Amino acid sequence: MKFFVDTADVSDIRELAALGLVDGVTTNPSLILKSGRGIVEVTAEICSIVDGPVSAEVAATDYDGMMREAAVFSKIAPNVCIKLPLTLDGLRACRTLTAEGRQTNVTLCFSANQALLAAKAGATFISPFVGRLDDINLDGMDLIQDIRTIYDNYDYKTQILAASIRTVNHVKEAALIGADVITAPPAVLKSLANHPLTAKGLETFLADWAKTGQKI
Ligand code: E4P
Repeated sequence: MKFFVDTADVSDIRELAALGLVDGVTTNPSLILKSGRGIVEVTAEICSIVDGPVSAEVAATDYDGMMREAAVFSKIAPNVCIKLPLTLDGLRACRTLTAEGRQTNVTLCFSANQALLAAKAGATFISPFVGRLDDINLDGMDLIQDIRTIYDNYDYKTQILAASIRTVNHVKEAALIGADVITAPPAVLKSLANHPLTAKGLETFLADWAKTGQKI
């Protein structure tokens, strides 16, 4: 399973990259706003840190506008992945960009039928939003499972990028289902290493080691 980090904060990306936890990056307009930086310059800096796909999301809602913005993003670096909303215009742009050899990430997916359309449009990634479905009392993981089944039924190559990941349990469930990628906030990725028994065990070992008076 690939780990993408869902942020436009370059200090977090550098820290996680040093830990080997960044196979790619996803951003969205809200994360760009939070960074306080220009989308082109921050995306360029992220691409200088990370070799894997770095998703930059278009803001246009019409096909021509999406294609114009995609051309701007494409000039930044070869690993920029064009992120498009799951609308008819977004799917059309996805089809064109895929034919041009660009990586695409179709975002804001909330149904299996939407994911089917993205695969038919040749998307590199489909981003089902798990947490936002949980927020409205649906089970986001049901959607990941449905998409996995459909893509396997027809051997679609579009990768399932489980997004809107809020908890470490989301990561485990997505991995059990067989999502190809998860994108998660930095804090969730770092907390995957945490377990109270690990912390407690280490505390005991260090205390006992101090009592031995030895040094290595
Ligand atoms: C995915 O690409 C999105 O940027 C992100 O996962 C959305 O997460 P949120 O629902 O926590 O905002």
